[in-house]
Amino acid sequence: MTTHLHPAQAGGSAPPKGPGEDPHRWLHTQTGPRPGEHPGRSGNPLVKVTGLAWLEFEKPDLDRAGRFGTDFGFTVADRTPETLLLRGRQAAAACLVIRRGPRPRFAGVAFQAAAREDLDRLARGTGRTVTAHRGGHAVRLRDPSGFPVRVVHGVPDLPALPGRAPLPLNFGPEPVRVNAARRPARRPAEIQRLGHVVLGTTRFGAALDWYLDTLGLIVSDFLYLDGHRDRGPAMAFIRCDLGSVPADHHTLAMILQPRTEYVHSAYQLTDLDEVAASGEYLRERGYRHAWGLGRHIQGSQIFDYWRDPDRAMFEHYTDGDVFDATMEPGWAPLSRSGLAQWGPTATAEFTGTNDPRVVVAAIKALREAGNEIDLRTLRGLIKAMSS
Ligand SMILES: [Fe+2]
Repeated sequence: MTTHLHPAQAGGSAPPKGPGEDPHRWLHTQTGPRPGEHPGRSGNPLVKVTGLAWLEFEKPDLDRAGRFGTDFGFTVADRTPETLLLRGRQAAAACLVIRRGPRPRFAGVAFQAAAREDLDRLARGTGRTVTAHRGGHAVRLRDPSGFPVRVVHGVPDLPALPGRAPLPLNFGPEPVRVNAARRPARRPAEIQRLGHVVLGTTRFGAALDWYLDTLGLIVSDFLYLDGHRDRGPAMAFIRCDLGSVPADHHTLAMILQPRTEYVHSAYQLTDLDEVAASGEYLRERGYRHAWGLGRHIQGSQIFDYWRDPDRAMFEHYTDGDVFDATMEPGWAPLSRSGLAQWGPTATAEFTGTNDPRVVVAAIKALREAGNEIDLRTLRGLIKAMSS
């Protein structure tokens, strides 16, 4: 385990950089938990899921959802009067299932089981049943936040579609691109695959333990409210435990907040030019930009965030970290400025603090029993989002 400290943990400014030392090394905290803190993984999970399978939404207007989807970079896999299936280019099941519904809403997440027997084990352990689903099988659960969660196996993959390879880059003394100009096309992105989903919840601790104990996910990074580390983490970036096989830094991220809601989902593109040029295309088409370009700290992705016509947030990203199961959780304070290594300051459009409904949600969450929102937490969140 590496032992370098975040400056906030070390109680000072960034450590001096020696010649050749990576200037961002101190930004990544792999200090592990202090004694008694959350270990970030379960000792005996029911199963270990291997990845996200898809996300489900309901939308009143499937034509409009399809237009945004293809402009954002998905390919239509199937369309009926009641359902729209959007896919990426890698071989996989369609990663967005959009059903016609009376109002726009997030309708749940599906994770991939490693084996058919894992569904039986999961069903036995949760008192649910295994049912036939989309050509395979599924167990339908509900997490402690109230989000529907399917765990699926055997749903057939759609065949891979051709996609652009990363552009060759000229760096240093040995150029790889000679007598050839760089002209990336300004067109919709080629989405490769679904990367992660981020959920906000008023029941963070209960939901965190449920995902670790039930689905075998493990934590890559914890964020805590500055000055409140004694109360445990307020955000977790959570990956799949694939043993020695590297997994995305986060497949699921969860944050404690006054409103339980879908925050965003993220889709992998081939390289930086694809993120930037497809963003210009979305801008020209009049879509609402939320935040970017920048590079995150937890997960290191180069990111760009957009909102669909229903204000649901979707992220293009490239070049994310992958960790095998040996990496211990890092701990760092949650702050607005700590959401990116470079790029513009996180906007209120991204953090959601420009939404007047957040105040109503905060008052409601304070009044309701059985959640983890109290005045101290709210003060900590407000401080984090202004620092
Ligand atoms: Fe993200």
